Amino acid sequence: MSWRKSLKGRISLNEPLSKHTAFKIGGPAEFFIEPEGPGDIKTLLRISKKKRLPFFIIGAGSNLLVSDKGIKGMVVRLSAPYFRKLSRENESVYAASGIMLNKLLAFAKERGLSGAEFLAGIPGTVGGALAMNAGVTRPAARSIGDLVKEVKVMDREGNIKALKKKDIKFGYRESSLSEYLILSSVLILKKQDKRKIEEKMRSYLERRKSTQELMKPSAGCIFKNPRSGSAGRLIDLCGMKGKRAGGAQVSRKHANFILNSGRAKAKDVLKLMDSIIEKVEAEFNIHLEPEIKIWR
Ligand code: EPU
Repeated sequence: MSWRKSLKGRISLNEPLSKHTAFKIGGPAEFFIEPEGPGDIKTLLRISKKKRLPFFIIGAGSNLLVSDKGIKGMVVRLSAPYFRKLSRENESVYAASGIMLNKLLAFAKERGLSGAEFLAGIPGTVGGALAMNAGVTRPAARSIGDLVKEVKVMDREGNIKALKKKDIKFGYRESSLSEYLILSSVLILKKQDKRKIEEKMRSYLERRKSTQELMKPSAGCIFKNPRSGSAGRLIDLCGMKGKRAGGAQVSRKHANFILNSGRAKAKDVLKLMDSIIEKVEAEFNIHLEPEIKIWR
């Protein structure tokens, strides 16, 4: 296909998305593309419109369920060096969107910059974390939006804009950035003693390890917490820990985690999600909303 020649980045055909999701689930992407820079993305957007090929951006795939049939169209991953730049100026850190959060944290810790420790152990890229305003609820609610000074984005027409914090809406596990392609961000941190930063990171990691199931593939919390409390607690109270559908299983450690306990299909996870929604609705009259993104 001729349009592929106009790109500098890498393209694979029928790439299994199970290789690119934390769940280890998902059929093939018709075109799996790793553009070299924003110019390539602009070209891809133009082609996707012209050829009517759906366009998806994948981060670390940590909060994503992809259908077993796979994806017709383009799945784009920002993994080229351009999208993995990290630098600092005083207390500001420039983080491109393809950087993994653990790299960002290691970079900040090394330079004695504090403020992002609560992100420790959250799997994902900076871009994915910004799009869904990733964060924690305990011991206090913190999310990546709290750190933002500015975010550089591309709109669906290929125009690049620098959005100031006041131009961005950050909500609970959502942000107005998700309508754009996120290119990079400037985050504001604060100078602090390295050892203190390390301690804080360790305590966030330990809390996560003691309450969450991290050994089997999952997508983290499946449902958003409803206003009135914790989704995990409600699912637990319905007696659903350990419940299975095919290869998918509700974690026995944290009921808001669904695990791929071996060869799970997206349809197994969806079936389990439906039965959780039904049970919690019947028992508590609360409708759980998925936190994960679902590509069908
Ligand atoms: N609980 C149960 N049973 C369970 C799970 C939890 O009774 O199976 C109880 C716990 O004992 C606790 C309460 O529910 O009293 C809340 O649980 P937890 O502290 O684990 O927090 P959470 O509200 O379930 C949220 C975020 C997590 C984040 C943690 C820690 C959401 C949906 N979840 O979980 O984020 O790591 O707080 O800050 O906002 C994610 O977004 O993917 C995620 C895992």
